[in-house]
Amino acid sequence: MPSLTHAPMPTPTFIQQHQIDDRVLADEAAAGLLAPRAHVSPKFFYDPLGSRLFDAITELPEYYPTRTEAAIFQAHGAAIADAALAATGAAPVLVDLGAGNCAKAARLFGLLAPRRYVAVDISVAFLRESLLALQREHTAMEMVGVGLDFSARLHLPPSLADSPALVFYPGSSIGNFSPDDALRLVREARATAAGGALLIGVDLLKPAALLQAAYDDELGVTAAFNLNLLSHLNRLLGADFRVRDWRHVALFNAADSRIEMHLEARHAITVRWPTGERHFAAGERIHTENSAKWAPEAFEALLRAAGFGAVRRWTDPQGWFAVFLATG
Ligand code: AVJ
Repeated sequence: MPSLTHAPMPTPTFIQQHQIDDRVLADEAAAGLLAPRAHVSPKFFYDPLGSRLFDAITELPEYYPTRTEAAIFQAHGAAIADAALAATGAAPVLVDLGAGNCAKAARLFGLLAPRRYVAVDISVAFLRESLLALQREHTAMEMVGVGLDFSARLHLPPSLADSPALVFYPGSSIGNFSPDDALRLVREARATAAGGALLIGVDLLKPAALLQAAYDDELGVTAAFNLNLLSHLNRLLGADFRVRDWRHVALFNAADSRIEMHLEARHAITVRWPTGERHFAAGERIHTENSAKWAPEAFEALLRAAGFGAVRRWTDPQGWFAVFLATG
């Protein structure tokens, strides 16, 4: 009988950098609710329903960032990849921050031909299915999933980013950071790139009405996304929020150049959970998200302040969104 010999099927490696402990998360959420100006981190949006609602947001006519960024890569992908490879050398290590379903990075595989793909997300569980599927399509590429909350600190095991790398941070998720924290993350991304490059998507300043509509759409999907945070807190904390007691608020804060999302109490409410309670007066708000909007020059200045010596920028014809490549 002739025997068939198969090449061993390559499989991704998974590393969870630290355990994401529900109790630690619950304590963090409770502390925010008890602050004089109540706030909850936007990372609490992304329970399974919240992640699906975000995907729906990206398809809304008012929510321009996702499709505009995709159009920039469609139009300029080859030039962007050439410039990136000039900095990293051929067959780079590609480090994908907030990889999620890995779709945006996978669209660059053809142009970049990375030898290793390092997908970083807060939980490896989110990465497992997508990375397994990708590995079947790209059998020669080494794939690693890293579970890491890089909003606290971006530091990869040295063996993973051991040579000039391309660090990829699309979607303008950098907008969730204050300017100081954004600078810190970009510095850490530069260290991770180890002489390579950072490729980052950034939402730009534009007329307030356009911004406002993108975060307060007519169908109410963004409102549902914001309100769903309360259901997540009920499960995580054992709290007794009632979604119908709260109203979605999105506003453009021009002084701080950011969209803010809040949940506003429709009437006086006391929210209780096993270890605490908080009274909200009618109209009082819980601050749930900042989404910074940058002037292109200001973001370039941030990249330079983080130590990058050269910056290139690609935008859409309307100048709504930018993709920056920072090197040196
Ligand atoms: C995922 C942080 C880029 O700020 O536009 C979308 C999240 N919030 N609609 C953004 C979000 C409301 C999004 N980021």
